[in-house]
Amino acid sequence: MRPHAEHQYADELAALAAADDRPRPPGWRLSPQAVVTYLLGDGERISPKYVGPRRLVEVAVATLATDRALLLLGVPGTAKTWVSEHLAAAISGDSTLLVQGTAGTPEEAIRYGWNYARLLAEGPTVDALVAGPVMVAMRTGAIARVEELTRVPSDVQDALITILSEKTLPVPELGTEVQATRGFNVIATANDRDRGVNELSSALRRRFNTVVLPVPSSVEEEVGIVTRRVGELGRALELPEVPTAVEEIRRVVTVFRELRGGLTADGRTTLKTPTGSLSTAEAISVITNGMALAGHFGDGVLRAADVAAGIVGAVVKDPVSDAAVWREYLETVVRERDGWRDFYRAARAAL
Ligand SMILES: Nc1ncnc2c1ncn2[C@@H]1O[C@H](COP(=O)(O)OP(=O)(O)OP(=O)(O)O)[C@@H](O)[C@H]1O
Ligand SMILES: [Mg+2]
Repeated sequence: MRPHAEHQYADELAALAAADDRPRPPGWRLSPQAVVTYLLGDGERISPKYVGPRRLVEVAVATLATDRALLLLGVPGTAKTWVSEHLAAAISGDSTLLVQGTAGTPEEAIRYGWNYARLLAEGPTVDALVAGPVMVAMRTGAIARVEELTRVPSDVQDALITILSEKTLPVPELGTEVQATRGFNVIATANDRDRGVNELSSALRRRFNTVVLPVPSSVEEEVGIVTRRVGELGRALELPEVPTAVEEIRRVVTVFRELRGGLTADGRTTLKTPTGSLSTAEAISVITNGMALAGHFGDGVLRAADVAAGIVGAVVKDPVSDAAVWREYLETVVRERDGWRDFYRAARAAL
């Protein structure tokens, strides 16, 4: 359903590689310059994947060309996973060497495991060993990705320390080790809101350069991101054609930004903030759902009623406290706002 970045954007990557005459770090498919262009777009053939400060992307890419790993940090929905996938695709041509971090991630997921049938039959042999994504990346000189690193238990996180500092992965059962080929590095992501869950040990943190991905700086920028991604998702899901309604998108983004920041856009009214994160990513799914409703059940035009239920669902995560916050926002802000009458009615009905 969802092709990997290196397949979906194969044409762009090939065009960049063909025109790329700058030096490439060992094991890289593209020069650092070209990787940045791939991420930010060039206004012509190369579409922008990430919208945000150029410097930040440059720091991230430059880090990966050193012996330090990259940690992408940020609140939910700030494109950490998205950026990490595209960086791996552009640098190694492979974004699939992925460890999903959870509280239950075992050490084998980061190092290696065994094919138990063969282990029982043959004992520990090279053929019985099942390499994890990081080990594969070390062998092939590629980027490995670790998602939600701070959710991984600390003793399992520590397995990364030797890998990152010595660039080797010992396999004591075979009396050998795997040495990293040039081009190997690690991109980890971590959620700001998880801070403290399993804080990175200082030994591990020293092996990472941290880049914090910000929330979009302005309404315009966020509307731009949502519009682009909604268009791409709608095409990928083959939803019925619904003209992208910039006004409806602007409204969702405005509501999200005001509630997230606890202040109306004109700076006049302070607001209580709900418990949910109200991220750009959630704005994208509210609009995408609205387009599906409008296309399948409505008249093919995205209307307030199509997004209202989605917004309420995104805002009201806690049925008691968030519902009160939302009601207050509706009555004090939405109700009085010029041109928002339809949305006020639809949102009331959706409660
Ligand atoms: N600045 C941005 N530029 C481009 N796309 C963005 C931006 N911010 C968010 N998005 C979009 O938001 C969606 C979700 O992003 P992603 O899943 O990478 O967030 P995340 O930071 O990993 O969130 P989480 O902490 O929940 O894992 C993606 O489809 C991405 O395209
Ligand atoms: Mg993520």
